Amino acid sequence: MNRQILVCYKGVTGFTKRYAEWIADEMGCAVMDLKDVASSPLSSYSAIVFGGRCVAGSIDGLSKMKALAASCPDATLIVFAVGATPGTQAETIQEAWKANLTPDELQSVPHFYMPGGLSYEKMPLHEKLIMKAFAAVTKWQVRRKKNKTESDLEYLRTISHSYDLSDKANIAPLLSLLKTMQKKA
Ligand SMILES: Cc1cc2nc3c(=O)[nH]c(=O)nc-3n(C[C@H](O)[C@H](O)[C@H](O)COP(=O)(O)O)c2cc1C
Repeated sequence: MNRQILVCYKGVTGFTKRYAEWIADEMGCAVMDLKDVASSPLSSYSAIVFGGRCVAGSIDGLSKMKALAASCPDATLIVFAVGATPGTQAETIQEAWKANLTPDELQSVPHFYMPGGLSYEKMPLHEKLIMKAFAAVTKWQVRRKKNKTESDLEYLRTISHSYDLSDKANIAPLLSLLKTMQKKA
């Protein structure tokens, strides 16, 4: 077991957990739900990888994780976010990072976006209702647009239904960073 690295996550419908488990599997390290992470054992790790799902532009659990990581300054915090946004939407993803990380953190905290998907079946009822309302409003907005782009049309096709964009290949850049850090240690 690799005791230098800990992967923890906060998600609801399983996409973030899946990515966290893929990373932990590849690195041979422990994986934990954020709710089970106590601050004291964290100081023994040299790298803490945190994955949070995107909710209305925020990364779920990131504030809590930042506070926990602040108590172990020797550990490197690495963040990944999982959302329904396709990985090709670079501008949207960049805006989300700017909303969740300070300018200093954007430089010092390695961060990665991993496309998840939508699972209406696994969403709690209140979130399903929010998503359905959001989908209805954005569909109406897109339909009114005069010059619809291919990505607008793709959005219309997908937003009301469950879909899965998760792919193990998306963890490669994060794994590569972890392996480089291990070689240097
Ligand atoms: C209420 C709500 C708000 C969401 N907001 C965003 C968002 O701002 N950006 C995004 O990319 N995905 C958003 N999503 C989609 C989730 O981030 C996506 O389904 C993700 O894969 C869920 O991860 P999980 O399976 O670990 O819970 C939202 C989902 C819900 C239910």
